Amino acid sequence: MFNDRLDPLADYPFRKLAALLDPIQPVCNDAPVMLSVGEPQNQPPAFIKDVLSENAHLWNKYPPALATPAYRQAVADWLTMRYKLPAGFVDPDRNIVPVPGTREPLFMLALVAIPQSKGGGRPVVLMPSPSYHVYRGAAMAANAESVYLPATAESNFLPDPATVSKAVLDRTAICYLCTPSNPQGTMGDLAYLKSWIKLAREHDFVLAVDECYAEIYDVQPPSGALEACAALGDGPYGTAMDNVVVFHSLSKRSSAPGLRAGFMAGDARVMARYAELIGYACTPMPLPIVAAATAVWRDEAHVAVNQKMYRGNFDIATRLLDGKAGYFRPQAGFFLWLDVGDGEATCARLWKEAAIRTIPGAYMAVPDAKGVNPGAPYIRVALVYDNDVTEEALGRLARAL
Ligand SMILES: Cc1ncc(COP(=O)(O)O)c(C=O)c1O
Repeated sequence: MFNDRLDPLADYPFRKLAALLDPIQPVCNDAPVMLSVGEPQNQPPAFIKDVLSENAHLWNKYPPALATPAYRQAVADWLTMRYKLPAGFVDPDRNIVPVPGTREPLFMLALVAIPQSKGGGRPVVLMPSPSYHVYRGAAMAANAESVYLPATAESNFLPDPATVSKAVLDRTAICYLCTPSNPQGTMGDLAYLKSWIKLAREHDFVLAVDECYAEIYDVQPPSGALEACAALGDGPYGTAMDNVVVFHSLSKRSSAPGLRAGFMAGDARVMARYAELIGYACTPMPLPIVAAATAVWRDEAHVAVNQKMYRGNFDIATRLLDGKAGYFRPQAGFFLWLDVGDGEATCARLWKEAAIRTIPGAYMAVPDAKGVNPGAPYIRVALVYDNDVTEEALGRLARAL
């Protein structure tokens, strides 16, 4: 009855986490705190409610595949401002596809960008290990071979382009990168992004850069892949945004994962193909949500408030955890990546002794050729609550560690 392509998805990280922790009853009287899920716990800007109600007459409309010109323009303006792109570099009609958050297009991209065969063999999808599980799901759905690139401390927790063989690059259809990285919170600079873009053009694959944590940063705003495209300019391997697609959403930037609003941007050829797929298989944003999301992309004040809260959480983490469990202050994102020796055992113990739920790093990674899971020594801790809750939760975590 079922195809076996998606069977391996049974090891979905949160299902494994439930199997590990649900049988355990915490033995402490403190209220449980969920630091396992990367879901912002503060509220998005209040003006969303007003815009939604002003546009409530639009709920009877089928959502247009490409949202509205106003939405695409707001996104193009935001990209241009945020990454200091040349005026006119982003064409809102050719380079932007509105999406209901980034999970759907990160997965669906595989349906448009993976051919039957590539470089004379089975297409390859490159992705960091550990990384967001959806990249792997996308590769499986398209019957491509997943090649996991170690994202370890030695390479600033980012996949090193120099480690991929020419034979594999020739078969590569998509390479997923995530910067700032989930789970570790490091980021690739312009030189790093440029080297991947050159490879993508040389071997004609789609470089899919997940930038959904781009607005949650400590000191330095993360570089973006479109910024790297603009800096590269036209060259021997292509022009403008060739082979590059970036993914952004309001889920983290604006604490609005429930709004389901985002965009993909980049290579006009990929955008055109993806726009065709939307008519068959995707869920465009409803028009009242498009109106609200347009206003949210145009507002920066609430983003600064969010950033201040996350910086406060990292101040607390640095005070309570510095010198423990390989703690390092992430450059961006809202996760701690703690080297606890045995992530699974520590995660179970933290739940039992301190009622703090985290996720073992192993669940976000895949064993390498030698059978070593690069995430195994780690736990991921999501700092998604306000400073008071974070102080209390990390205090308990630090004592239990
Ligand atoms: C690395 C990464 N990419 C993409 C997503 C998808 O988020 P959304 O669909 O809300 O944009 C998530 C969500 O947690 C994530 O952690």
